[in-house]
Amino acid sequence: MDLGISGLNALVLGGSQGLGFACAKALSEEGVRVAINGRDPERGAEAARALGGSAVFIAGDVSDPASRERIVRDARAALGPISILVTNAGGPPPGPLDTHEHETWLKALETNMLSAIHLTRLVLPDMLEAGFGRVVNVTSFTVREPYPNMGLATGVRAGLTGAMSALAREVADKGITVNNLLPGLMDTGALRRVYAAQARQQGITEDEAKTRMAASVPMRRLGLAEDFGPACAFLCSRHAGYITAQNLTVDGGLVRSLL
Ligand SMILES: NC(=O)c1ccc[n+]([C@@H]2O[C@H](COP(=O)([O-])OP(=O)(O)OC[C@H]3O[C@@H](n4cnc5c(N)ncnc54)[C@H](OP(=O)(O)O)[C@@H]3O)[C@@H](O)[C@H]2O)c1
Repeated sequence: MDLGISGLNALVLGGSQGLGFACAKALSEEGVRVAINGRDPERGAEAARALGGSAVFIAGDVSDPASRERIVRDARAALGPISILVTNAGGPPPGPLDTHEHETWLKALETNMLSAIHLTRLVLPDMLEAGFGRVVNVTSFTVREPYPNMGLATGVRAGLTGAMSALAREVADKGITVNNLLPGLMDTGALRRVYAAQARQQGITEDEAKTRMAASVPMRRLGLAEDFGPACAFLCSRHAGYITAQNLTVDGGLVRSLL
């Protein structure tokens, strides 16, 4: 199926590896011109090379408001107006709620909530001008079903979900859709750090920790980056033009909820 977005420009934050890279790859395969971001310039350059074509890498930390402005400026300079925005970054640290210092909360708010809102506001003028836009925020299944030790991540992502739900209605008649994509237990960087920590705590191998985690998923496997990217590309497609303010969970049936 032709997604109808070939030739458009996308900015994918946190797009140099894992789920963000999977989104960039799926968009790139649809002919979208992609700017990916991350903090590590070597990893980023390698990821842009792997995407090929017109893909560019823009280094910068999305937790820093000034960097966000520069990232969008550089993306526009490299590609032109942005029609597709995928917000993503590394997740906040796990742990019981009372173990996180105030500074950790502020960092998580900047990285995983305020960054997505700020970056969306920065690219909205391009989308309004074009009468077309797609915003996809990578959040987490924990917004639907809280998970042990993920209170900080869930708190800031629930805030983002609320803000984006409001924005979706504000721009709904402008050709712009705003949706969230919720990874389940995906075998990419963020989760690898979790099962590595579980292995250390429980005195088991990483493979054992991973196998136990996979057993908790109804599909009996962890998700792959390749399970995620196509869902992102679909939400960015012309065909998804009547889908907005939604939370699409990509989790192999992990979340036990009716809606
Ligand atoms: N994997 C899962 O099972 C799962 C489940 C639920 C939610 N999530 C969430 O989904 C997101 C992506 O997960 P993932 O597994 O793909 O993570 P990942 O493999 O660690 O990739 C994170 C990407 O974001 C970049 N990044 C991290 N912090 C950044 C920052 N402050 N500014 C700019 N770029 C930044 C990283 O590059 P640099 O390090 O070079 O900056 C990398 O490209 C995370 O927020 C994670 O918490 C993941």
